[in-house]
Amino acid sequence: MAKIPVKLVTWEDIVSWSRELSKIIKSSGYKPDVVVAIARGGYVPARLLCDFLGVDNLLSIQSQHWTEAAKVAERALIKFRYSVDLSGMNVLLVDDIVDTGESLMLAKNFIISEWRPKDVKIAALQWISPVAKLRPDYYLIEVREWYWFQYPWTRLEDTCQFIKRILKEEGVSKREWSFDDIVSKFREHYGIDVGLDYFRDAVEALVSAGVLEEVSGKYILKL
Ligand code: ADE
Repeated sequence: MAKIPVKLVTWEDIVSWSRELSKIIKSSGYKPDVVVAIARGGYVPARLLCDFLGVDNLLSIQSQHWTEAAKVAERALIKFRYSVDLSGMNVLLVDDIVDTGESLMLAKNFIISEWRPKDVKIAALQWISPVAKLRPDYYLIEVREWYWFQYPWTRLEDTCQFIKRILKEEGVSKREWSFDDIVSKFREHYGIDVGLDYFRDAVEALVSAGVLEEVSGKYILKL
């Protein structure tokens, strides 16, 4: 099975990374009047940066990826194109990670042309330099080798995806899984532990979605 390299990021990491990032922004002399969080990954870092930088104004913009029918290429679009007047204001646009950088680039261009601020600077906790099309103005960690960072705010979503992936790919040789089988295979395969509560929530969510079926205490992949 093709392994996705995964690193678990804790809440404690997020708070300390945001604190360190705020120091970099402060020492640059840039004084944001408004923080704009990229939905959804930028929400928590943006809120923490508001706290550490003493910024009251927090907005968000949802820049989302979608797959064009019959095309492999992914494209980003602004989901809710509302208008707001930011003239004369310095914006700090915040995301968790700059991976391809496409959604950030789109959001930045949208903000400049539609919201008309004085200036826009980009901040991210992590920047995957070999793949990113842009370099954020402020970042804490330069990632030189691609990983999927398992952030606390996508823990359930990611756990569901990873479980589905394991069961699909192991399906050739194994059909019925106990809860303990799922947990130990997950830990072995991804090398991270999201904790029992998340494993329980994920299995329950996959059963509700019809992806898994429970038959006398064992789970079978349906979709
Ligand atoms: N969102 C986009 N790229 C990501 C990555 N490499 N890790 C976590 N979240 C992401």
